[in-house]
Amino acid sequence: MGKMVELKVVDLKKYFPVQKGFLERVFSRKIEYVQAVNGISFEINRGEVFGLVGESGCGKTTTGRLIVRLIEPTDGRIFFKGEDVTFLQGEKLRELRKKIQIIFQNPYASLNPRMKIGEAVGHPLEIHRVAMGERKKKLVLEMLEKVGLEPAEKFYDAYPFELSGGQRQRVAIARAMILNPELVVADEPISMIDVSLRAKILELMLMLKDESNLTYIFITHDLAVAKYISDWIGIMYLGEIVEIGRKEQIFSSPGHPYTRALLSAIPVPDPARAKKNVQLRGEVPSSINPPSGCRFHPRCNFAMEKCRTLKPTLKLVGKDHYVACHL
Ligand SMILES: Nc1ncnc2c1ncn2[C@@H]1O[C@H](COP(=O)(O)OP(=O)(O)OP(=O)(O)O)[C@@H](O)[C@H]1O
Ligand SMILES: [Mg+2]
Repeated sequence: MGKMVELKVVDLKKYFPVQKGFLERVFSRKIEYVQAVNGISFEINRGEVFGLVGESGCGKTTTGRLIVRLIEPTDGRIFFKGEDVTFLQGEKLRELRKKIQIIFQNPYASLNPRMKIGEAVGHPLEIHRVAMGERKKKLVLEMLEKVGLEPAEKFYDAYPFELSGGQRQRVAIARAMILNPELVVADEPISMIDVSLRAKILELMLMLKDESNLTYIFITHDLAVAKYISDWIGIMYLGEIVEIGRKEQIFSSPGHPYTRALLSAIPVPDPARAKKNVQLRGEVPSSINPPSGCRFHPRCNFAMEKCRTLKPTLKLVGKDHYVACHL
């Protein structure tokens, strides 16, 4: 049997108008835009993990927020289980919001400091009128236990400030999982916690995924983390996907110079590979006036004339493996 496509994103774009100072607004009529997401497309099968990887500011969080319908796309389409959900409104959007959850990037900022943990985790149950009162409490206690916050009764009545970073992250996971979602966008869920706890949280997420055949979009700037958790990996650069494929292919035969540079940045005790290291030069350019042609060309060691003028599209280079590069 073929795999079920859970999520499909087609040519998705999000441009944000740039806030200008008063004088600038007076003297210039032109509105400028940040091209946060500039036409990305991908598919995720049910039960699989899609790792979205890239440097800070490349548009990962914006992509996640678009998919959970927290913000409206400038262009493009989002399909969930084959249904176009790009413009869902009202009751249908509420139904979708039960099925697609997001774990926010910063567990410190995303928890209300005055709300007890039990209330925070149970909140979605109330909003979606799934359970109230004692029944709600029972579901919350079960979920706290499941994510390893034990004794659950104690954590139920605790406030966020009483918890460690790792525990807060478990709360954020519990809150995303309490409605039994089908798709979870996890935005850098381990970047704010101690290195020593990271593997535990990843294991927990994989356990929860296998239990309910969940689908994950796992956002990270860390390819090593993506390697651990993903089935598929998409490499983002300045709002665009420059390479996409099965994890094994991305690691064994990276096609894009940017992917190779990111891979070189992972420390490995292998002098043979260290020699082949590709260094990333310069800073990430602005996505307000992105470079012409291939957006990576000013930082690329292999840039040719046409890279400056012609934008490369994703091309098949191997089974299920696409690269956007003229080389
Ligand atoms: N609400 C907004 N208004 C204006 N610009 C925004 C907004 N949200 C994001 N941006 C801009 O869009 C671009 C992409 O931001 P985004 O947060 O999606 O990146 P990211 O890949 O998640 O970065 P990080 O790894 O730092 O979390 C950045 O240039 C950012 O400044
Ligand atoms: Mg982000």
